Amino acid sequence: MLVNDKHLTTIWYEKKTDKVKIIDQRLIPFELKIIELNTVDEVCFAIKEMQVRGAPLIGVTAAYGIYIASKENANIDFLLKISQRINSTRPTAVNLSWALSEVMNKIVDLKEDQISEKTLEIANQIRQDDIDNCKKIGEYGYELIKNIYEMKNKPVNILTHCNAGWLAAVDWGTALAPVFIAHKKNIPIHVWVDETRPRNQGFSLTSWELLNENIPNSLIVDNVGGHLMQHNKIDICITGTDRTASNGDVCNKIGTYLKALAAYDNNIPFYVSAPISSIDFTIENGVRDIPIEERDSEEVSHISGLDENNDLKTIKIVPDGSSCTNFAFDVTPAKYITKLITEKGIVGANYQSISSLK
Ligand code: MRU
Repeated sequence: MLVNDKHLTTIWYEKKTDKVKIIDQRLIPFELKIIELNTVDEVCFAIKEMQVRGAPLIGVTAAYGIYIASKENANIDFLLKISQRINSTRPTAVNLSWALSEVMNKIVDLKEDQISEKTLEIANQIRQDDIDNCKKIGEYGYELIKNIYEMKNKPVNILTHCNAGWLAAVDWGTALAPVFIAHKKNIPIHVWVDETRPRNQGFSLTSWELLNENIPNSLIVDNVGGHLMQHNKIDICITGTDRTASNGDVCNKIGTYLKALAAYDNNIPFYVSAPISSIDFTIENGVRDIPIEERDSEEVSHISGLDENNDLKTIKIVPDGSSCTNFAFDVTPAKYITKLITEKGIVGANYQSISSLK
């Protein structure tokens, strides 16, 4: 998608330098910094500290992580250990283990001198598939937005939570792909952007993406959605997912569940854009069994922003001695989800429909 009118993706392989490059998302919206990933330590740091984040992007980065490791040592036992190490960086988004398995299963029987080249080929393919799948999700989701517009004949108000735009994937994104396509096809839309405390991915990333594409949007703090729904100011909610269970329970950024409850109470459709790489077919009950990441309490007790000199500063916002907990995700039970938008079409959030995607 566009940044200052130029097309950019979140991660790419540069052939002439043999380097993997990413955007350091910790600095957006204040600075656009491109960095290289040269070592497995840097790959693990990038995922854990959220230089890259968002379920699909974590998966693609992990795949390139195996390539980076294979340049140093292409022994398969070594790479299996590296794969376990990368997999332990963040526990919730299943795309991480999915991408690592995609790579490892395809190289496990190769000769050592074939491994590095093949790993790069697979990582590049995973990246390209992510772009293609997000675009398809966008096209299916666009039809939903278009239908609402044709019914209302007024701009369509869409609520989204966290960042499930192109920064969370490689390009297009998941939840925002329908939004980008609707805008390109001249459907009048307006996006309500949830702040998404504690890391504020809505304010810092989603708003930046929408501004760069000239899409009308308003930033709201996390507790506003219910009020807007009661007053007919939201036509549709679309979020992403980090892991969807085979029963249709959806794990996504903390706070998604509360939005889904409010949408259900107000009869507002709640859709989840779910690439198949984010479905965990092995988990039967998402609420019970999806592992929820708990992050550093400093993300809750502190907040970052620009000071009066435009320097990025982090300040403390709680009393000394406060104890803060930081659950990064929650699970929305399937009954609150209208449908899932996948690259194979729009399907019910239930066991039968999800099984048909395998
Ligand atoms: O903690 P993050 O920023 O990695 O969380 C991201 C989300 O929760 C997204 O909504 C999810 O990964 C879906 S992204 C296409």
